[in-house]
Amino acid sequence: MKFSVKIYNLEKQSTTCIIVGIFESRRLSLAAEQLDAISHGYIRSILNYRTIQGNIGQTLLLHDVPNIRSKCLLLIGCGKSSEINLKQYKIIIDRAINTLNNTGIAEAVCFLTELNLHLKGSSTYWNIRKTIEVSHEALYRFNHLKSKKKIPPLALRKIALHLATRREINIGTHAMHHSLAIVAGIKIAKDLSNMPPNICNAHYLALQAQKLADLYSSTITTYSIGEKQMTELGMHAYLSVGRASQNESLMSIIEYKGKTTKNTRPIIFIGKGVTFDSGGISLKPGEGMDEMKYDMCGAASVCGVMKVVAELNLPLNVIGVMAGCENMPGGHAYRPGDVITTMSGQTVEVLNTDAEGRLILCDTLTYVERFNPDVVIDIATLTGACVVALGHHHSGLLSNYNPLAKELMAAAEQSGDHVWRLPITEEHQKQLDSNIADMANIGGRYAGAITAACFLERFARKYHWAHLDIAGTAWKFDQNKGATGRPVSLLSQFLINRSGLNTEIEYTT
Ligand code: BES
Ligand code: MN
Ligand code: ZN
Repeated sequence: MKFSVKIYNLEKQSTTCIIVGIFESRRLSLAAEQLDAISHGYIRSILNYRTIQGNIGQTLLLHDVPNIRSKCLLLIGCGKSSEINLKQYKIIIDRAINTLNNTGIAEAVCFLTELNLHLKGSSTYWNIRKTIEVSHEALYRFNHLKSKKKIPPLALRKIALHLATRREINIGTHAMHHSLAIVAGIKIAKDLSNMPPNICNAHYLALQAQKLADLYSSTITTYSIGEKQMTELGMHAYLSVGRASQNESLMSIIEYKGKTTKNTRPIIFIGKGVTFDSGGISLKPGEGMDEMKYDMCGAASVCGVMKVVAELNLPLNVIGVMAGCENMPGGHAYRPGDVITTMSGQTVEVLNTDAEGRLILCDTLTYVERFNPDVVIDIATLTGACVVALGHHHSGLLSNYNPLAKELMAAAEQSGDHVWRLPITEEHQKQLDSNIADMANIGGRYAGAITAACFLERFARKYHWAHLDIAGTAWKFDQNKGATGRPVSLLSQFLINRSGLNTEIEYTT
């Protein structure tokens, strides 16, 4: 699907379909008003039949409107004109895109961009960003593994977004550039996450890193650390988790070097890449176990973010690490009761082999010390407890450094990829006490998302660190079942902000 921004003249130009908004109580938007004038009152007369009220997401497709050069007109309900927020805007765009796609229309010009007048705190920049990002969300399909190759291609091919002035076109082009990179990153994360565990193993993750390096050879290099090197490094926690799997554990490192003034310290992302989490000897119940193929969504999001960084050529140094492995039961498996020595030298008593994420992450956190990081952010489908605490809308955010947490919360707000911060306290830390080793790998029944982060915090004391628990947000299981690509959007925004790229060029008042 191709996007463009342009100044479109309703009277003089023609296209297949024009998309315009209708507000509640059948009030016309600016473009609808104009079309009504051109068609000598046709739009108002149609609305008088009460075919569409203007409630959010309502649609009405009109053909052969008098004096209108375009073949059809899609009226779309936008709710109350005074209070369109981002969530509602998403519904509007989603409905518009799906209606067009279902009717087989290939080309459209969208006037919903004028809604920024009503989008609180918004601007042309954000309006274009959100329109493109939400459209891609609505159009995403995962068809790679269907045997019938004749799945009809998406009908909708081109959308032009109307902007009123030259100045807006400049801002819009800039915004479009950002969002096209972000949606490409989200797509990589989704596709990778949706791949089944018999295909997507740690080696497959490494191949995706290699693909990025091939594509962006001037800025990205990659290498992976296998079991032999992990043994030499003393990464015994990481190795324990993958021990019973037929697939080798592999940690893939993706290094991006942008144009920076000095040898800027890198921003590091670490993604949990458990390509299947059976629970190991502490086996999970059978029901829904297939969903544990998504236990590598953190790693997939890291791959997606690296794509965005490279595509936008951000003036930063960024390192992405995908911590790949598979947690299986078997004769070689690590067991409850085992005591393992981590790369940091701290010892861990394994009380549950299903708390494996923290074990691969703790050694990875120690490994990245060598890069002298500016900040380290890990992304992990770490705990069912986080889903209980926050549900499916907010990712958990935990950090040892308030300014970093604030930066991430601001980026979450801007991107609509929400987080909620949870605390890390000494009291919670105590729940990890073990009388056998330095710590246990689980902290008991309560505050599971927090005690998991407490565990990680013990390995992240040498730098500024944040942890995103995406167990509730990385995939969904409604009718649109599948990976969400979160938190690629949030992390991309975080990096765009850090690059000092302008996103607030213009505010509407
Ligand atoms: N990958 C799971 C966490 C998870 C569970 C994510 C459900 C999404 C949905 C993780 O490895 C795990 O099994 N965590 C355990 C920890 C427990 C043993 C302390 C959990 O949450 O039950
Ligand atoms: Mn587990
Ligand atoms: Zn897991």
